[in-house]
This record gives sequence, C-alpha cells and structure tokens, in this order.
Amino acid sequence: MAEPPIPFEPRHDPFQHAFNNTSKLVFKRLLHFSSLPSTNEYVKALATVGEPEGLIVLADEQTAGIGRLDRSWHSPPGGLYFSLLVRPMTFAANETPLITLTTGIAVAKVFQSALGLEAALKWPNDVLLNNLKVAGILVESAFIGNDIDYSVIGIGINANMALADFPQTLQGKVTTLQMKLHRRVDLARLFGYLIGQLEFWYLRLRDKGFKAIEPHYRRLCTTLGSQVSINLGDSQISGLAKGLEPDGSLIVQTPKGRQIVRSGDVVSSKPSNAEE
Ligand code: BTN
Repeated sequence: MAEPPIPFEPRHDPFQHAFNNTSKLVFKRLLHFSSLPSTNEYVKALATVGEPEGLIVLADEQTAGIGRLDRSWHSPPGGLYFSLLVRPMTFAANETPLITLTTGIAVAKVFQSALGLEAALKWPNDVLLNNLKVAGILVESAFIGNDIDYSVIGIGINANMALADFPQTLQGKVTTLQMKLHRRVDLARLFGYLIGQLEFWYLRLRDKGFKAIEPHYRRLCTTLGSQVSINLGDSQISGLAKGLEPDGSLIVQTPKGRQIVRSGDVVSSKPSNAEE
C-alpha cells in the first residue's frame, strides 16, 4: 500500500492563512497537500464515509487529475487544484448541473474583479480568456434515491505556467493566468478570493434557485446566443444555443427542431445575430 499523503502544517501555510480570512458559512475545513493523485477522488473517498459539507482539499500538483467526459486534467505545479464538498439537501437530483454553472460564475467573477481579466464561460463548465481555456470545473455527485447525497466541486486553474508546461495536444487550446498577465499570480490570495465568491454564489443558488443565477450566467456565457456544434458522444448537432432549462441543460434550436442538451462538448461556437 502507498504511504498516505501528509497535509501541510496549518500555521505555516499561506493557503490556510488566506482560508482563515474567509467567512466559513459553508466551507469550514481546508486540507492542503503538496501532491495528490486527484483532489476530487480524495474528497469523494471522505464523502462516502460521512465527511460533512464544507471540506476543501487543495493540492499543489495532481498526478492523475480528472477532467470532464473521462479526460485527464493536466496538473503540474504552478496551477491551482482544489475540490469542495457540498451536501445540497434541498436540490433535486437532476439539478446538480446548476452547481457547475454557478461555480463558473464565481470563478469568472474572481478573474474579472481580482485580476482585471475578461473571463467568459463556455457551456457548461469552461472558463475562457480570449477563447482559450484557463480553468475547468468538474462536479461529481452521488445520490440516495432521488436525493443528492453529496456533490464534489473540482476546480482546476492554469495559473503560473507557461505554454511549454502543456502537452503539444493542448497547445492552441489553453492559456494561463501568467501568460495573460505577464506576471505570476499569488495563488494563496487568489484561492482566498475564490472561496469567498464560491460561498456567495453557492448560497445564492441554494437559497434562491436557478432564477437568481441565470441572468449572471447568461451575461458571462458566450455559448448562449451563438451558433454552436455540440458533440454528444455518438452524434453531433448544430444550431442556435437559445437558452437554459431550469436544470441547466442547453436549449438548441436546430433545423430539425428544439433539442435539450444535458451533457455534451461544444466543439464550435460563433456569435449569431439571430433573434431569440
Ligand atoms: C474539465 O474537464 O474542464 C474539468 C477539469 C477539472 C479539474 C479539477 S482540478 C481539481 C479537481 N481534481 C480533479 O481531479 N479534477 C478537478
């Protein structure tokens, strides 16, 4: 059996320091590791044995980071990788995609207000700078009957890395905060801002629902109102991305009629002047 990872000593850790200054309304406990296979996997393992809502697990690097649609998430040192555990008792099981959308709002708002960057969202979960991916969100949930047992919100940010730190296959698709800003970002400070915004937007969704989130998502999401092609795994559809269903699914007007897309990969998107 592999030796278990040991978290950093809280007193000497700038991330714990930044976390201590947050309100702790939802997120109450931080475990910070120098390296983990995947922070999502770590949190899921604790969630299944009864860990309460509010745990955050952060790693300086991941050796087996997981992305959406069974992809891997390249996670070298210099990025920000963390996962948060929530137990949103009041949500219906089919509403978990709303957690992904809400998390995107929080991350994009921090990039805008704390770093002055024009961040945008690609439905459902990509955070973009000039159309290149700078952050990704992976929400994984477990259910008991029709209720949510837990959701793990995983966030990966390409922060203090150069293009050369990415495999050839990702070049031309990704960017980093450092590349955009021409300086390194204080990761602990950024983490503190993110926790504050994540808490705010999560509580807004929990207490006020989709209607309180949708206008903010709509303003940030460049997919909405665009002509899109979406890979659905076994097929592809094209049409106008008209809006969102109350469970976060994308409404696409195709030549064959309206289609509701619950999960898929938007492979191309161009602005449309078409009326809604
Ligand atoms: C995506 O495909 O866009 C989602 C990427 C999510 C990556 C983050 S990094 C922290 C957390 N741990 C993981 O293994 N994945 C998520």
